[in-house]
Amino acid sequence: MSQAWTPSSWRARPARHIPTDYPDRAALDGVEAILRGYPPLVFAGEARNLKAALGKVSRGEAFLLQGGDCAESFKEFHPDIIRDTFRSLMQMAVVLTYAGAKPVVKLGRIAGQFAKPRSDTTETRDGLTLPAYRGDNINGMEFTAAARTPDPDRLLRAYAQSAATLNLIRAFANGGYADLHNVHRWTLGFVAGSSQGKRYAELADRITESLDFMAACGITPESSPAMRQVDVYTSHEALLLGYEEAMTRVDSTSGQYYDTSAHFLWIGDRTRQLDGAHVEFARGVKNPIGLKCGPSLSPDDLLRLIDILDPLNEAGRLTLITRFGADKAAAGLPLLVRAVQRAGRAVVWSCDPMHGNTHVTAGGFKTRPFDRILAEVRTFMEILPSEGAYPGGVHVEMTGQDVTECLGGAMAVNEEDLSSRYHTHCDPRLNGAQALDLAFLLAEGLRTDRGALRSVAAR
Ligand code: PEP
Ligand code: CO
Repeated sequence: MSQAWTPSSWRARPARHIPTDYPDRAALDGVEAILRGYPPLVFAGEARNLKAALGKVSRGEAFLLQGGDCAESFKEFHPDIIRDTFRSLMQMAVVLTYAGAKPVVKLGRIAGQFAKPRSDTTETRDGLTLPAYRGDNINGMEFTAAARTPDPDRLLRAYAQSAATLNLIRAFANGGYADLHNVHRWTLGFVAGSSQGKRYAELADRITESLDFMAACGITPESSPAMRQVDVYTSHEALLLGYEEAMTRVDSTSGQYYDTSAHFLWIGDRTRQLDGAHVEFARGVKNPIGLKCGPSLSPDDLLRLIDILDPLNEAGRLTLITRFGADKAAAGLPLLVRAVQRAGRAVVWSCDPMHGNTHVTAGGFKTRPFDRILAEVRTFMEILPSEGAYPGGVHVEMTGQDVTECLGGAMAVNEEDLSSRYHTHCDPRLNGAQALDLAFLLAEGLRTDRGALRSVAAR
């Protein structure tokens, strides 16, 4: 790994989960050349700001909230859907900030989260076998040979959709929508009547009272513009390395390489091989990087990966996103945390309670029981402090929509309900109410006194 890094040095490494069956390689090369000439989606300075914010998380001074679709799609590309995801993230962030009394780093799984690693490379229906669906920037979901053939032009469409999505997010974040005075307006219609909705409304009342008090003291959005703006960052799995390479540019300020497709990129649990292409690519870009850590990752390999990805031990550079499953976290997580603590590594620890808790129902739907999601988060919130580390964040697949994809929650989605509003293009997501419920649980856990932690564990 000590050889020189270039944006294309990953091409000499074994690469899993990158399609090799493009019928026309020259067309793919042509599209990548076009992308190399397109404007960056994010600026290096923004990625550095995110890294600094994550540095605070690594020191226990802030909390990371990362969330969005499992897979964005061309079909579900609509301003209302983007707005509702934004609202849902803002609501969660308000709960975490107010009840947890910590600044919250807001990181969307959005504006570029298209490509998916698939366990099976093919799918068979009624005796017909076709390539698996790999995400809208690669092929189509429809079960036909034409749709499942990788099409390079999809990369251009994904770029355009990412740019438009990011533009709207920037507008929401800076144009007044995210003003704290709108705290009541972020409630999604279907959440309003639920118990979490009521709890949120009470909290929003208290925030409004505080804002009134501050206004009476002369502190208003006019005198303190920070009150009406938020920093929202974007992220996705850096899976399709040809696209990521094409979006990688030298930053003129620092002379360093940044992947300008998003502020934050992560390496998936299936592509974190030490000598693999994905680790090779990620080590050379200066963006903050995430690494998914599942039950098959040994403490020794984790330390080797940290050496490769964060050789200078820079606070905020590396976020370890643990995704064990509620049944495996208590046994496996402490071993990783202990090893990292002993090595004195300044990482952010974040919990993905989604990907280790997926199962397929009798009806054929992929789902996740909400109580297992909460159980994994609770285990995470207990184990990290008991190993002397800080439980710094959460990584969730969620949407602001009223979907029925994960089982349970206060608005009780059951197996029969799954079929009614199951819209995800890949994994089941928390709906707006479940996401809010999770935020309240986390907020309790974030209160640093031990008593509060114990009460969370006992719930
Ligand atoms: C994902 O985050 O969508 C994903 C595929 O996760 P993991 O790599 O942890 O399985
Ligand atoms: Co997923």
